[in-house]
This record gives sequence, structure tokens and C-alpha cells, in this order.
Amino acid sequence: MRTRPLKVALLGCGVVGSEVARIMTTHADDLTARIGAPVELAGVAVRRPSKVRAGIDPALVTTDATALVKRGDIDVVVEVIGGIEPARTLITTAFEHGASVVSANKALLAQDGAALHAAAEEHGRDLYYEAAVAGAIPLIRPLRESLAGDKINRVMGIVNGTTNFILDKMDSTGAGYQEALDEATALGYAEADPTADVEAFDAAAKAAILAGIAFHTRVRLDDVYREGMTEVTAADFASAKGMGCTIKLLALCERAADGGSVTARVHPAMIPLTHPLASVRGAYNAVFVESDAAGQLMFYGPGAGGSPTASAVLGDLVAVCRNKLGGATGPGESAYTQLPVSPMGDVVTRYHISLDVADKPGVLAQVATVFAEHGVSIDTVRQSGKDGEASLVVVTHRASDASLAGTVEALRGLDTVRGVSSIMRVEGE
Ligand SMILES: NC(=O)c1ccc[n+]([C@@H]2O[C@H](COP(=O)([O-])OP(=O)(O)OC[C@H]3O[C@@H](n4cnc5c(N)ncnc54)[C@H](OP(=O)(O)O)[C@@H]3O)[C@@H](O)[C@H]2O)c1
Repeated sequence: MRTRPLKVALLGCGVVGSEVARIMTTHADDLTARIGAPVELAGVAVRRPSKVRAGIDPALVTTDATALVKRGDIDVVVEVIGGIEPARTLITTAFEHGASVVSANKALLAQDGAALHAAAEEHGRDLYYEAAVAGAIPLIRPLRESLAGDKINRVMGIVNGTTNFILDKMDSTGAGYQEALDEATALGYAEADPTADVEAFDAAAKAAILAGIAFHTRVRLDDVYREGMTEVTAADFASAKGMGCTIKLLALCERAADGGSVTARVHPAMIPLTHPLASVRGAYNAVFVESDAAGQLMFYGPGAGGSPTASAVLGDLVAVCRNKLGGATGPGESAYTQLPVSPMGDVVTRYHISLDVADKPGVLAQVATVFAEHGVSIDTVRQSGKDGEASLVVVTHRASDASLAGTVEALRGLDTVRGVSSIMRVEGE
């Protein structure tokens, strides 16, 4: 057992960072035994130095994060500041000055993962980021290491707890979107500005990271098709229930059947109640992985929160410290397949479309003709109406998103179609 401690610099001491510091202190003996050397908190960079931080020696606190990562005696930098800058520059500076990095920063990894991996490799350092996707749930390492001998074809997950809480509320109480969002905000599940969650920017960043690791290719945030969940209505849930489904905001990463390309997308979708993801309640996350040899795997747990996220950070810290003591580095970026990312129009799935139409003879035939003309085959149609107005709910067989988009555009051009009130993809069948 080495007695000289490994030195850790903590960048950020907020929701996650404060829990990382707490666990480093309370579990110090266990961490020492597992790593084979003690770990010492050597500095804590924050924005507001005067804030009281329980359990943190004020002498360790600094506002000069750059000087901290440049010290030269730091073994591991834990970056839990978030955002693009200064996090990106601090991480690359840490590599240049001898430290490996553990980060929870999904936004940065999704945008600049390739460059950060290249910088880590250039300097012979580790870059670990288990906490960046689905909080406490072990996912990056299982995909990167445990399944390294398999071939992953699909990753489908609920990777944002805020939106799952809102959708679950709508499902279980019949509440509308705004009412469910207000409750999520009051309970602390949604931030004052919920845009990153409800418009699915957060989930899209996670989808980019997952797709890249699962398919050994580079998928950037811009490659991910993104649709938020602000337009999901109580009527959509009623319709979903009628089909034996519920609605979830899903991140879907898929390898094309011919293996020549991949897709990554985030949007609300109906999934059958029998699918394992349908039973993921409240703010929990879950990711369903399909691979050639293992078959179907499900990873489930708390996707956010200080303590759960710190659990993932600490796991990475132990791994990086062990690597350091062994004079090695862990697996770097694996992007050898260089598969192109196909546009959303190429995605093939089923659709649930609600239309408001005139209630008169021939309308159904007219609508069916538009679907047929665009090569979209209808599975079921449900019609209800009175007083000259009617609603049509059409569920299709599998079709490309481009064909569906063409169909919807043509439907909107029909005199007898008053509006297309909802379009939702149907997944997980
Ligand atoms: N919260 C979660 O549940 C969760 C889950 C998974 C991943 N993450 C990721 O973890 C990271 C941290 O999230 P968080 O929720 O802990 O954020 P947070 O509570 O806002 O904490 C951010 C910390 O960074 C410090 N900071 C901000 N700008 C800085 C700068 N320029 N120099 C030095 N320190 C600076 C802040 O200092 P002050 O304390 O002085 O303000 C604060 O301590 C993000 O990348 C986030 O995406 C969070």
C-alpha cells in the first residue's frame, strides 16, 4: 500500500461537487483500501469563495481554477462545474499539467468529446465521465468495457428524470403539461428555466454520447434529431391508453439494418405498457440495450441528484487512481467504425396521427388515399364525431420519417382536414 496520497482537485462544489467532497471524506478508508493509496482533496475551485461549505476546509477553496489545475502535483481533476467554458479549457490544461480527468459534463462531452479524448491521449491521461449520462446508473463503462466483445444494435432510454416525472404525472393523474410542470418545479424536479430538459437538449447530449460509445463512431450533438415534450397533451395520453401504451421522452440510438450507418434521436413516443421502459416511474432513468450476443439488457436507477451522481464520479475516481498507480490508462475513445449519421428522414418506425376532419362521406377514403400515395400503410383507423366535425386517429405500419412528413404535408392541404392535432412515433414493439 502506497502511503503518499493521490491528489485530487475538485472543480465545482455545487449539487454534485459537494457530495463528491463529502463521500471522499466519509469513505476515505474504504477508498484508500480499494485504490491502494490514500486520496487527498488538494483544492476546491468555486465561483463564490465566501459561501459556507460544510465539511470543506476553507483553506482549500479558491476562485482560481486555472492555477489549481496547473499546479503540477495534481493527479486527478474532477470537473463538476458544467457548461462549455471554462470547463473545456480547464480539462485540457489539466491534461497538459499531468492530471487525468473525471467529468460529469454531458454538454461538453457531447459537443467536444472527440477533441477532449484526443487531448487525453496525446498526454497519456484518462478521461472518464460515467456521471455524464443517467447519473448513478452504470452505463458508460458497461457499454465501453463489459460489452466491448459484443455488437450493440440499439440503445433506447429514458435519460432525463425531469421530463419522466412530468410525463408520469400526466399519465397517472390526467393532468395537462403545464400543471405537471408546475408540480415538478414545486417539488424541485424541474429548474426555474426548464428549457434544457423539456426541449430535450439535455437528453440529446446524452444520446450523442451513448450513440458514439455504443457504435464506436463519432456522434455529435448536432447529429441528434431533437423534439421536446411541451406539446404532449392529456388527449395524447388518452389515445395512448386506448392502444395499451404510455408516452415517454425517449433517446433512441440505432444501427441501420445493413450496418452502414447510425441514427440518434430524442422525442416523445408511445411505447406499449408491456415494454420494460413503460414502468419507469417518477424521476427515474432507464436504458434498454439490444446487442447481438447478450440480447436485451436494462439499466435502471436514479439519473440525477447530488449523491447518486457523486456515486458515479467516485467510481470513476477510483478507476482513474488505480490506473495511475498501475502506470496505465483506461480505454480511450473508440471511433474506428466511422459510420455516417443518417438524417431523421431515413428513420423507420410506426406513427400515431390525430386529425380533425369534416364529418361527411368520402373523407376517410380521401385521407387513406393520401397515406397510400406516400407509401405509408395504415394499420388501424378510429373515427369519432358529431355535428359535422370528426376526429380520426390513424396508426400506421412502419414507414420512413420522410414518407410520414410528406403524408402530413399533403393531409394539411386537403379541404376536409381542419388540422393535424398530434403526430407521435410508436416505439418498442
Ligand atoms: N445535478 C445533477 O443532478 C447532475 C446529474 C448529472 C450530471 N450533472 C453534471 O454535473 C455538473 C455539475 O452540476 P451541478 O448540478 O453540481 O451544478 P451546480 O450545483 O450549479 O454547481 C456548479 C459549481 O461550479 C462552480 N463554478 C461555476 N463556475 C465556475 C468557475 N468559472 N470557476 C470555478 N467554479 C465554478 C460553482 O461555484 P459556486 O458554488 O461558488 O456557485 C458551483 O460550486 C454539470 O456538468 C451537470 O451537467 C449534474
